[in-house]
Amino acid sequence: MQYSIIIFGASGDLTSRKLVPALYELFRKRRLPGAVRIVGFSRTPFAHDAWRAKLGQSTARFLGDSFDRPTWDAFAPKLFYQQGDIERPEDFRRLSEFLRELEGPGLGTRVYYLAMAPQSYEPAIRQLGMAGLAEQGQGPRRIVIEKPFGVDRATARRLNEVVHAVFAEEQVYRIDHYLGKETVQNVLVLRFANAIFEPVWNRNYVEHVEITAAEELTVGHRAGYYDKAGVLRDMFQNHLLQQLTLTAMEAPARFEADAVRDEKVKVLRAMRPMRPEDVAAATVRGQYRGYRSEPGVDAASQTATFAAVRLSIDNWRWQGVPFYLRSGKAMSCPTTQIIIQFRQPPLMLFEGESRGPHEANRLVIQIQPAEGIQLHFQTKVPEAGMRVRLTDLSFRFQEKFQGGMPDAYQRLLLDVISGDASLFARADEVELAWGIIDPISEAWVNPGLPPLAFYEPGEWGPEEARQWMRREGHEWFDTCPVLY
Ligand code: BG6
Repeated sequence: MQYSIIIFGASGDLTSRKLVPALYELFRKRRLPGAVRIVGFSRTPFAHDAWRAKLGQSTARFLGDSFDRPTWDAFAPKLFYQQGDIERPEDFRRLSEFLRELEGPGLGTRVYYLAMAPQSYEPAIRQLGMAGLAEQGQGPRRIVIEKPFGVDRATARRLNEVVHAVFAEEQVYRIDHYLGKETVQNVLVLRFANAIFEPVWNRNYVEHVEITAAEELTVGHRAGYYDKAGVLRDMFQNHLLQQLTLTAMEAPARFEADAVRDEKVKVLRAMRPMRPEDVAAATVRGQYRGYRSEPGVDAASQTATFAAVRLSIDNWRWQGVPFYLRSGKAMSCPTTQIIIQFRQPPLMLFEGESRGPHEANRLVIQIQPAEGIQLHFQTKVPEAGMRVRLTDLSFRFQEKFQGGMPDAYQRLLLDVISGDASLFARADEVELAWGIIDPISEAWVNPGLPPLAFYEPGEWGPEEARQWMRREGHEWFDTCPVLY
């Protein structure tokens, strides 16, 4: 079987920063099927060789030491370029001819990757349809759609309708790059390939769950997008809710795309809808000081760069267990962690260093930067009577496995090529996720509650977030990566 990957938005940032380096790495590791071609499509004119040379430079820059010139020279002939405008039907006809020539007769898989600005998704999908490029007579035709998939439930639903007018749902791969991270996938392995966690993974033993995605970076040059999106649309609707569903879902009957996604969807359906009057008490929103002076940001911007949200899952497993989701830019350190905070033992027999609920057992799944898991438990302090202290057991991927963790795009691209949609969001999943976020975004604008709280860059968000968590009866687990 031969494969063609057609990248729309070929001269953009995502192509040079993520997609081509990932494809090159797969080639270097001999994981890319032999008969793969990558065809770039965008308005900027390039000869094939000029595009290859430009990508050679950017790939070398982004990969650093793992870039090898002879390997690149062997990979580069797989790259082709076709100039075109997504608004022009004749350019899609020319693309179709070019692909036919390149592929020759016989069956082949095509992957259309939309790596361009979201406002171009709809015209690109329509043109693919009109040019007959979605028809599967000559082999599978798949489409990959990047985030953001809509800006709320209504726009996501509309985009799904446009997509489904041309592609069947089985042909559609909606990317959430967090699902390509090895550690995010490992949540499923930890839970369902071990027998010891599942019995305690429920309301009887878990006191609360905390999912934090803290970034040290500020908004940088992305204000044009970010000032409209804000942290809820940028991080919560997708990456944080994906981590929540994997943490909370039931075991699927089989590890197959629809079986896995059915279970994730059940979690989203069980999530208690946030009523407008609840938003002020169930959320905190913040903005880092200096955000309004970033280039391209409105001087009076109300955009949240930090949020903390309490969600509840009304099902038998999780009833009464709060899920705290938190993310922000310009925070103390970059770390993404899922924390399962267990309950205190029913009776405390021993003298501890502290008796707070945060001294009970805790499982920290560190998604990044250093990937691993840490289990916190009480142990006896030697030569101190029966005094106990919280200590830990740590597991680090880099100590047990060689070669470092691959970038998320490598796994996701391989899955699209082989037709496995397990790690991609389904239409109903995306719409349900927006349905959870929309009431919060709406209440934050009108009536604008809770008020926007400010924080200094380099802190764990605003002081209000700490006080709010105290009122909830907990402490945030504010530890910069527990593993290094
Ligand atoms: C993107 C967001 O989807 O994810 C960015 O748009 C964010 O704002 C990024 O920085 C975080 O991804 P990662 O893989 O660096 O945690």
